[in-house]
Amino acid sequence: MNTYIGIDLGTSSVKLLLVGADGQIINSITKEYPIFYPQSGWSEQNPEAWLKATVDGMDALLNGYNRYEVKGISFGGQMHGLVLLDEEDNVIRPAILWNDGRTQKQTEYLNTIIGQERLSQYTANIAFAGFTAPKILWVKENEPENFAKIAKIMLPKDYLAYKLTGVHSTDYSDASGMLLLDVQNKCWSKEMCEICSVDEKWLPKLFESYERIGQVRDEYNLPNAIVTAGAGDNAAAAIGTGTLKNGACNISLGTSGTVFIAQDAFSVDENNALHSFAHANGKYHLMGCILSAASCNKWWMEEILHTQEFANEQEGLETYLGNNEVFFLPYLMGERSPHNDVNARGCFIGMRPDTTRKQMTLAVMEGVAFALRDCIEVAKSSGLTISATSICGGGAKSDTWKKIISNVFGVPVCVLSMQEGPAYGAAMLAMIGAKEYGSLEEIANKFIAVQTVVHPQEELIEKYESRYRYFKMLYPALKSVFAQVE
Ligand code: XUL
Repeated sequence: MNTYIGIDLGTSSVKLLLVGADGQIINSITKEYPIFYPQSGWSEQNPEAWLKATVDGMDALLNGYNRYEVKGISFGGQMHGLVLLDEEDNVIRPAILWNDGRTQKQTEYLNTIIGQERLSQYTANIAFAGFTAPKILWVKENEPENFAKIAKIMLPKDYLAYKLTGVHSTDYSDASGMLLLDVQNKCWSKEMCEICSVDEKWLPKLFESYERIGQVRDEYNLPNAIVTAGAGDNAAAAIGTGTLKNGACNISLGTSGTVFIAQDAFSVDENNALHSFAHANGKYHLMGCILSAASCNKWWMEEILHTQEFANEQEGLETYLGNNEVFFLPYLMGERSPHNDVNARGCFIGMRPDTTRKQMTLAVMEGVAFALRDCIEVAKSSGLTISATSICGGGAKSDTWKKIISNVFGVPVCVLSMQEGPAYGAAMLAMIGAKEYGSLEEIANKFIAVQTVVHPQEELIEKYESRYRYFKMLYPALKSVFAQVE
C-alpha cells in the first residue's frame, strides 16, 4: 500500500505519522528538542536540532516498514519563526520563535509609524511581536553583522523542506504570518519588503499547501517520495480535523491555543484583532492565537506541582465547574490575541486561606478557556457565528477541559475519530500532492468522523457567563501594572 509521512514540527517536539493511503495511522514517533529562553520573554530553537530530530524520527518511523512505499511527505510547522541562512546555507543564528516577545519596539514602530492601516492594506494584518517581519527589523537593528549575512529567509517547516529537497519554498498559510505577504493577492508585498529592508530574492517561492515542491534528495533513501509544501501548524490542524467549510471552527490546545475559522472569501475584521491568513485548502481563514494554552497546564503541573500525573490532578474537578472562585490569567509569555501585549504576565487571582490545589488546577484550565473566549468575542463582534467546534492538541485529551470549553463557549465540542491534528493534516496534504486523492474534501469525508460530542449544559453556560464577565475585567485592570513591572 502507498504510505505518506505527515510531520508536525512543534515547539517542544516533532511528531511524525506514517499514514496508509486508506487513512489509517500505521506508526507514530515523537522526538523532542530543547527550547532556549536566553532572556525573559525571548524564545529560540536551533534549526539543526529540528532537522536531526526529523531525520532520526523518519528512520525510527520507518523501521520495519517499506521505504519504497512512501509516496509523499508534507509538514505542519510552528509558524512565524525566523530562520536565516547565509550564502553557504549555514544557519546564521538560532531561530527566533513565534512566542518570542523581544520585538516590542519594532512592533510598535510598524503599528504606529508605518501605521496599522497601511500594514493592513499591504498584508491584511497588523504587527504582533511574534510575527516574522518585526524580528527581521530586530536583527537589523541589534545584530547588523548577522543581518549583513542574510541570503535566505525561511519559516521553520520550510527549513526541513529545504534540507530534504533543496527547494527554497513556503506555502501561503505559513507565509501569511510573516507580515510580508499580501494575503488577499497571494504574493510578497513589495511595500513590506522595502519597509523591512528585505531583498525579495531572500524570500522563498510561494506554493499552495497541497502543491508538490520537489523530490526527496537521494541521501534520505526515500526514492519514491515527493514533498508537498505543507502548512502552518494551525492550517494543517484544520485540514487534519476536516475544518474546511466556510465558518467551520477548530480549537487547538497545544503550546499555543488557537481559534481557527475557515472562510471561503478573504476578509479582515475591523480592528485586525484576528489574523487574516490563507488556509491550506486554497481559501482563507481568520484566527485568534493565545501564546500559552496547554503550556500553562504543563507549567503548573511540572514546574509548580512537580508531577507528571496530569489526569490524577484533574480528577474530581468536575464538581467545581462553574463555581471556582480562583481566576488564572494565562499570559505566561505575554499575550497575542486579542491584547497584543508582550508585557502581560500570568497571574492567579482570588485565593483565600481555604483555596485548594484542585481549584488552582481548575483555574488554569478555565483561564485558558476564557482567554480563547476573548478571541471568540472578537469573531462574534465582526459578525461571525460559531455554532460548533472541533478540537485538537495535547490539551484536548482532557475530558474536563473539553467540558469547560464547551460551556465557556456555549457550543458543542466535536471529538473526532482522528485526533492527530497537524501531522495528520500534513499527511493529507501529501496525499493530494502525490495525486493519491483529488481533493481534501474527499479525504476528509472518507477519513474523519465525529466520534462524540460534548454538549454544553444550560446551567453551566450561565455560571461560566458570569465568571467570564469577571475574567474580562482583569486584564484591563492590570494592563498598566504589567507595563511597569520589570
Ligand atoms: C499561530 C502561532 C502558534 C504557533 C504554534 O499564529 O503563533 O499557534 O503556530 O506552533
